[in-house]
Parts: sequence; C-alpha cells; structure tokens
Amino acid sequence: MPKITYKDKDGNSKIIEVENGLSVMEGAIQNDIPGIDADCGGAMACATCHVYVEEKWFDKLSKAEDAEVDMIDMANEPKRNSRLSCQLIVSDELDGLIVTTPEKQS
Ligand code: FES
Repeated sequence: MPKITYKDKDGNSKIIEVENGLSVMEGAIQNDIPGIDADCGGAMACATCHVYVEEKWFDKLSKAEDAEVDMIDMANEPKRNSRLSCQLIVSDELDGLIVTTPEKQS
C-alpha cells in the first residue's frame, strides 16, 4: 500500500499506509491524524481537510477543479501548494506523498 507522510506544523510526522482508492483525508481520519477534521465528509464544503503538499509532489497531482480552488480560498492560510486532502485519491503513483497540516488546524 502507498505510504503517506502526514506532518504537523511542528515537524512531527506519521507515516501511514493508505489503501489505493481512499483519499488522503480518509487515510488521516482512519488513523486519527490531528488537524484534519473533514467536517463535510469529503463533499468539498468545509476546507477542514486543507493540507500543504510538499513542493516536489505538488506538480504530480491532478489539477484542482474550480470548486476546490474556491474552497481553498476560504481555508486557513492558503498557499500556492494548498490542496483539499479529500480530493487527493491515493494510488501507487502517490507512494511517498508528504502533506503538512496548517498551523491553525492543528
Ligand atoms: S472534507 Fe470537507 S472539504 Fe474536504
């Protein structure tokens, strides 16, 4: 299974094996990763699953659709490498992905 690294603002990290087809958000929820609440359950309506994607991975992801970009604008401290983790579907290509939760979500 692909390994996803979840980091918090202090640099603490957890490496979790996440099943293909689940979202990065679902991997976090199933493993009690702090800072990813996913209040809307993945419906792109809350932005509480907002993460920063490590730069080297950012360009490998499928592009965010307009609705995701709009929701990221409402997230805490959005940056160029912001994504909603509920929209990142785990696959073998994402093995090694590193995401960091924003300070105010932690
Ligand atoms: S879980 Fe609500 S926007 Fe991702």
